[in-house]
Amino acid sequence: MSIRKLLPGNIGLGGAPLGNMYRAIPDEEAHATVTAAWDLGVRYFDTAPLYGSGLSEIRMGEALSQYPRDEYVLSTKVGRIMLDDMEDPASRDFGEKGGIFEHGLKNKILNDYSADATLRSIEDSLKRLKTDRLDIVWIHDPAQDFYGDSWLEQFNIARTGAFRALTRLRDEGVIKAWGLGVNRVEPPELTLALDEPQPDAFLLAGRYSLLDHKRALQRLMSEAHEQNVDIVVGGPYSSGVLAGGEHFEYQKASPAIHQQVAKIKAIAAQFNVDVKAAALQFSLANPAVAAVIPGSSRPGRMAEDLAALKAVIPNEFWDEMRRQNLVAENAPLPVR
Ligand SMILES: NC(=O)c1ccc[n+]([C@@H]2O[C@H](COP(=O)([O-])OP(=O)(O)OC[C@H]3O[C@@H](n4cnc5c(N)ncnc54)[C@H](OP(=O)(O)O)[C@@H]3O)[C@@H](O)[C@H]2O)c1
Repeated sequence: MSIRKLLPGNIGLGGAPLGNMYRAIPDEEAHATVTAAWDLGVRYFDTAPLYGSGLSEIRMGEALSQYPRDEYVLSTKVGRIMLDDMEDPASRDFGEKGGIFEHGLKNKILNDYSADATLRSIEDSLKRLKTDRLDIVWIHDPAQDFYGDSWLEQFNIARTGAFRALTRLRDEGVIKAWGLGVNRVEPPELTLALDEPQPDAFLLAGRYSLLDHKRALQRLMSEAHEQNVDIVVGGPYSSGVLAGGEHFEYQKASPAIHQQVAKIKAIAAQFNVDVKAAALQFSLANPAVAAVIPGSSRPGRMAEDLAALKAVIPNEFWDEMRRQNLVAENAPLPVR
C-alpha cells in the first residue's frame, strides 16, 4: 500500500540532527528548527528514539505540541528501547556508526525487534512526542551497518516480531503505515522477496543520493515501485557532505569522498547549479520515491531545502554528470 496519499507533499524534516547527532544544540535552536519548517508549510516530521536517546523525540514533541495533531504527519521508529539506566555514550557499540549521538542523552539503549518491544517502544515514543498517535512507524536499522555479519539474526527477530506487530496495528487502524528505516539496500530488498505481510514504504537513508545510488537502482527501486511500496529518501545530502557539511555516513568524510564531491561541485559551478538542489531533485526524480527528508539542526536550513526543490537545473548539468559517470546510466533524471 502506497503512502503517497498520507504524505503532505514530497518533503519532510529529518529529525536525527535534533538528537545532537554531531554537536550539542541548544533546546531553543532545535525548537526554532522545527517551527521554521512548520512556518514554511512543512507538515511531515521524522524522528526516532535512537536520535540522542530520546532527545530528538522530546524536542519534536515539544515543538509540535503547539499545533493541531491532524495537521501533520509524524513518523518514528522501533527496534530500540531507551532505558531509565544511564550509560557513557562513548561506550556504545554502534558498529560502523561509532561516536554518533555522543552529545545526546545518556539513557541506555536496548536493541529489541520483538513484537513486545515494538509495542513498548511505541508507548514510550508517544509520551516523549506528547501525542496519542503515530502515522508511520519504521523498524530501525536491522542491517549490516549496526550488526555486521549477525544482521540477519536481528532481521529475523524483526520479521517474526516487529513486522507482524506493526501489520496488526496498521490493520486495526492504530497506525497508518509501516516499513523499514535503514541505511542499507539489502534489508528492503530481502523484505520484498519474503512471503510475509508487506510494508507500505521504506525509509532508505544515504543509498539513493547523488553520491551513492547504483546498488539501490540495481536491486530495489524498480521492484519497490512495481510492488507499490514507496521509498522515502533519508540522508539526501549523504549526511551533510553534499550540502557543504563535513560528514559522510555519519563520520568525517574521507579525502576520496571530498574528491567526488569536488567533481560534482565543479560541474555545478559550470552550470550555476546549487548542489543541494541537484541532490534533492535527483532523489525525487526516481518514480519509486515519494518524499525526501533532509535533516537539519538550524532554523535556516528548511528555507534552503525548499528553494533547492524549486531551483531550475539545466539539462546540460545532468548531461555532464552522466558524461563524467557521476550519475548512473539508468538513473532517472529530473530533466525537462
Ligand atoms: N536508518 C534510518 O532510518 C535513517 C538513517 C539516516 C537518516 N534517517 C532520516 O533521514 C533524515 C535525513 O538524514 P540526515 O539528517 O542524516 O542527513 P542529510 O539530510 O543527508 O544531511 C543533513 C546534514 O546536512 C547539513 N546541511 C544542510 N545544509 C547545509 C549547509 N548549507 N551547509 C552545511 N551543512 C548543511 C545539516 O547540517 P546542520 O545540522 O548544521 O543543519 C545536517 O547535519 C534524518 O534526519 C532521519 O530523519 C533515517
